[in-house]
Amino acid sequence: MTREKREVIRLIDPSTEGAMSVEAALHARRSVREYDDAPLTLNEVSQLMWAAQGITHPDGLRTAPSAGALYPLNLHLVVGRVEGIGPGVYRYRSTGHSLVKVAEGDRRCDLAAAALKQEQIERCAVVIVLSAVYERVVGKYGARGVCYAHMEVGLAAENVHLQVVALGLGTVMVGAFEDETVQDILGMVSNEKPLVLMPVGRRRE
Ligand SMILES: Cc1cc2nc3c(=O)[nH]c(=O)nc-3n(C[C@H](O)[C@H](O)[C@H](O)COP(=O)(O)O)c2cc1C
Repeated sequence: MTREKREVIRLIDPSTEGAMSVEAALHARRSVREYDDAPLTLNEVSQLMWAAQGITHPDGLRTAPSAGALYPLNLHLVVGRVEGIGPGVYRYRSTGHSLVKVAEGDRRCDLAAAALKQEQIERCAVVIVLSAVYERVVGKYGARGVCYAHMEVGLAAENVHLQVVALGLGTVMVGAFEDETVQDILGMVSNEKPLVLMPVGRRRE
């Protein structure tokens, strides 16, 4: 897909109010690997992207803290079933709270194969992929910048976990995968390292 033709989806503004307290979400959070076949809504996708890397301040500061506000993380969404948008690979743009389609087609099975055939990645509605571009932080912080990027992915992933619980959905951290295959599937450049996959779906009752 050429850059000129890339579809851009402006997401619905996220809500900053919810029915569940942070304490209740912390108490209820569990790794969930079984999902039903229902699609996610665009509203839910909007909340999930915002929870991970959304902008919450006029200076561009985000939901998750970042060392020196250098933001080494990238966020991709691999869509299988979402109302209103087709299967494909999308990149989240914090500025403008939008998704840019970077590849067509349902890549969940390929991603599952790259993750030691973990079936939750095939069965989910979407997979959130967090990656790091270390160059954004090592210039200022040297090798310690790599550690900072790894801390930051944990912060962003926990934000996703808590938002998932508050939406009544399920997710799990998936850290076991082949880096290069995931890079190929997502069309990542070689200096972008995938760090975690988070399949998300409606919890099976
Ligand atoms: C860094 C990290 C990597 C993980 N990788 C996987 C994984 O590849 N597959 C999986 O099913 N669960 C994975 N998990 C989830 C753990 O198995 C889960 O958090 C643990 O069993 C505790 O259960 P809980 O999350 O419900 O409290 C991972 C968790 C973390 C923090």
